[in-house]
Amino acid sequence: MVNAIHRGAAITALPALGVGFSYMTEVPGEFYDTSLIDFVEVTPETLCREIHRAGKQQIIPVPEQLAVVQSLAERFPLVLHGVQLSIGSVHGWNQAYLRMLDQIKRVLPFLWHSEHLSYQTIADEQGHVRETGIALPLPATREVANMVSQRCRSLLNRYDLPFLLENPAHYFPAVAHESGSDEFRLMNQICDASGCGMLLDLHNLYCNAYNHGFDAWQAVQSLNLSKVVEIHVSGGRLQDGYWTDAHEGRVPEPVWRLLEQTLPRCPNIAGVLFEVFPDYAPRLGLSAIREELSCLRHLWQRYARGHIDDTDKFGAYDYG
Ligand SMILES: [Fe+2]
Repeated sequence: MVNAIHRGAAITALPALGVGFSYMTEVPGEFYDTSLIDFVEVTPETLCREIHRAGKQQIIPVPEQLAVVQSLAERFPLVLHGVQLSIGSVHGWNQAYLRMLDQIKRVLPFLWHSEHLSYQTIADEQGHVRETGIALPLPATREVANMVSQRCRSLLNRYDLPFLLENPAHYFPAVAHESGSDEFRLMNQICDASGCGMLLDLHNLYCNAYNHGFDAWQAVQSLNLSKVVEIHVSGGRLQDGYWTDAHEGRVPEPVWRLLEQTLPRCPNIAGVLFEVFPDYAPRLGLSAIREELSCLRHLWQRYARGHIDDTDKFGAYDYG
């Protein structure tokens, strides 16, 4: 059967890893300590150089960069989190990204890989591929659900590993969604139809709830949480009336509270990760990052895989 999904791609077979942190050269190697971190997330493009030859993009792994991450893999489980696939582009996804991932897969062990449920390239009238400049949300239509589901199934078969879709932050609701519920319905449809898992970014969800005026906790409850394999949290910033996914600081209190409530309701959760952009990591400082990771560890130990504390103070908090 062409679309049969390999057993290795099942999200239910993954181990409960715990707390993760992104690999970045801006953070000293000794920071990656097993007392603080249980797994490491790698953006594969950061291990590569990009060239354009005869109008064709190539993303080429750099052996020295790979060697550093291969040594990390001796101490930590690795997962990959890509940013250039553009899985929702109608003209086609990024073949250069896939060729790069083929090469990485041969030399680097990783448990799952993920990408954003969005698109960042379009084809112009001459068929030339253009960057949109920012990842855009997809319309919640049957055609989009079918197209992305088919691509997810293709990834599951190609790599025989779980593949996760991440809910993106977006700032132009009119581009895609009439209401907050549309984007989560689309995510549910694709996960159900394809067999892929979900990377639930609670800060992205919080951004959208804040900027587009819907209830964040209600949105979480509308998701099929049995599909959630990984959760991201991060910090943003208020700019021109928008809460942005700047990935520059500490996790806001409402996002911690969402995590407390969401974590025990995700039976297949394998990891939670604190995100900070590499440029901001030195400014935020290692001690602040350590504190955020310790807080994640505390919540993981308390809530992961099943412990629901319904005696909480949750209802009194305004997440909107
Ligand atoms: Fe994220």
